Amino acid sequence: MSAVKSIAVLTSGGDSQGMNAAVRAVVRSALYFDIEVYGVQRGYQGLLNDDLRPMDLRSVGDILQRGGTVLQTARCKEFLTAEGQQRGADVLRSRGIDGLVVIGGDGSYQGANKLSKLGIKTMGLPGTIDNDIPFTDSTIGFDTAVSIVVDAINKIRDTMSSHERASVVEVMGRHCGDIALYAGLASGAETIIVPEVPYDMKEVANRMKSNFAKGKRHSIVVVAEGAAKGVDVAREITNSCGLEPHVTVLGHIQRGGAPTAADRILASQLGDFAVHQLMAGESAKACGIISGKLVATDIDTVVNSKKPFNMDLYELAIRLSQ
Ligand code: ADP
Ligand code: F6P
Ligand code: MG
Repeated sequence: MSAVKSIAVLTSGGDSQGMNAAVRAVVRSALYFDIEVYGVQRGYQGLLNDDLRPMDLRSVGDILQRGGTVLQTARCKEFLTAEGQQRGADVLRSRGIDGLVVIGGDGSYQGANKLSKLGIKTMGLPGTIDNDIPFTDSTIGFDTAVSIVVDAINKIRDTMSSHERASVVEVMGRHCGDIALYAGLASGAETIIVPEVPYDMKEVANRMKSNFAKGKRHSIVVVAEGAAKGVDVAREITNSCGLEPHVTVLGHIQRGGAPTAADRILASQLGDFAVHQLMAGESAKACGIISGKLVATDIDTVVNSKKPFNMDLYELAIRLSQ
């Protein structure tokens, strides 16, 4: 016996590749178990506008491989208020919906937590490219974003090597350096600058200079936007050692395009897991995968914890990029 008969799903905050795959998994798993399922358009904003539509099997056809989110996403100030949250819960209740799957980042999780305190069973799925959600090894979209950055750095490196130039590549990650770290390691960047590790610009500049002295034909710095702006890093390098690095800001290209197979699989597993958790009567849980195991952690714990930075990978990247 399922604890829920009717559920809804929404995407919220910044989008990420694989959100569609997660929506598809929630819808198809729910329907498989004879649970009615609604799609909420534009996140919490759509919830407050009562912008919900019933989803059937075909409504999520041909979206598994697409970036963006067919449900669209939004940031909603009104939902930050207690009145907004109450109205959101009332809208769901008036339609007989007793569970909600929220696909988004830490802010969206907070919203789900509030709704759970108003009697709606909620599940959070980590939909963000930043990989800044703890209690899951990876967030949905992270692997795709890293692949995009690696592909871009490969191309930048080709032309930098031809001209023996230095380069600074700015990537996304407001509070979390994982995109810079993983893409930097995977592309052999000489320097990785992240918000989690203090850095000394003089040292970065010296390293660049000595890379060329050692016979390297390029020197690439990957910087997470949350640590510094690419143009500022380049200016400081110029002031410190005279090199004039070229700057590339990858921007929103990192958040679009087809999700990788890994993100599609992660999204599919997590979407299905969220439905199972709701059926079992669970609420206010954040779904994740840790070392291959599906886990549901209290949202309270997740939003009050910080994802630990992988210092081993950071040090490995330094060792290997000499
Ligand atoms: P993300 O989910 O990617 O972190 P945001 O932080 O912008 O993105 O949050 C998305 C939306 O979630 C916000 O626009 C707001 O509607 C809702 N939200 C964020 N924080 C809270 C909160 N503390 N309480 C209730 N709702 C919240
Ligand atoms: O989704 C997270 C993120 O990609 C951050 O890394 C970035 O700073 C931010 O979103 C930008 O989002 P937007 O342009 O939607 O405000
Ligand atoms: Mg956030």
